[in-house]
Amino acid sequence: MQIVILKDATEVAEYGANLFVNQLQKKPASVLGLATGSTPVALYQNLIARNHAGDISFANAISFNLDEYLGLDGDHPQSYRYFMNQQLFNHIDIDINNTHVPPGNAADPIVACEVYEQQIAQAGGIDIQLLGIGRNGHIGFNEPSSGLTSRTRVKTLTKATIEDNARFFAEDEYQPHLSITMGIGTILDAKKVVLLATGENKAQAIKATVEGPLTAACPASVLQMHRNAVIVIDEAASSQLADVDFYKHIEAENQKLLARLARK
Ligand code: PGA
Repeated sequence: MQIVILKDATEVAEYGANLFVNQLQKKPASVLGLATGSTPVALYQNLIARNHAGDISFANAISFNLDEYLGLDGDHPQSYRYFMNQQLFNHIDIDINNTHVPPGNAADPIVACEVYEQQIAQAGGIDIQLLGIGRNGHIGFNEPSSGLTSRTRVKTLTKATIEDNARFFAEDEYQPHLSITMGIGTILDAKKVVLLATGENKAQAIKATVEGPLTAACPASVLQMHRNAVIVIDEAASSQLADVDFYKHIEAENQKLLARLARK
């Protein structure tokens, strides 16, 4: 794993956005794995700005989101489809028909999960997958105890996740307790994985992800098995890591090497 520790959330968003910019510049028809939550919003704002500046185009890109609430239509303001349209898709040159979010209103959710897997495979697999992380170490809606080779499926949310996300729902509004989420195996198939985390309240989950044992108790720890995973965090989220100096040293060496290669 590449562990990148930066000053604050702004630097984390910029670093993460640059990985997507590089990917799109290298391969305009990239298959992008996208995420919802508070953390990716600043990264999406970066990508919108870079799209408007003409640095990147999404015209040939295809996207797949990690997850969706089961029971919400795509036009429901709390649905992740709605979030993605508002936060990214409506502001960039992507063809909306090339954007995929698991269908929260599927008549048969089990079949919908299989279809989602097929669509990812037909697109050639995900080139770069963006992830946030829950305080309990979840990635997508793969809560602790999720199978480490699981595929897209219906998952029940933990009480902790429901509480964390309650802030987005009005007090008397229906809040789903079920989701459709890419599985951990689906995420591991992505060619590159970029996990962003900021703030003190993610420090424990990041400690478990980076330095803990590989365990279903912290689904993100499975990234220790991925050949190209980048963990981009701010100082606050790194505050429980034992080896911060070592990670910073490796990253500084990486950057020196990249600068040297770029000069050649
Ligand atoms: P957050 O959610 O970015 O809103 O903290 C992350 C997640 O639960 O994956």
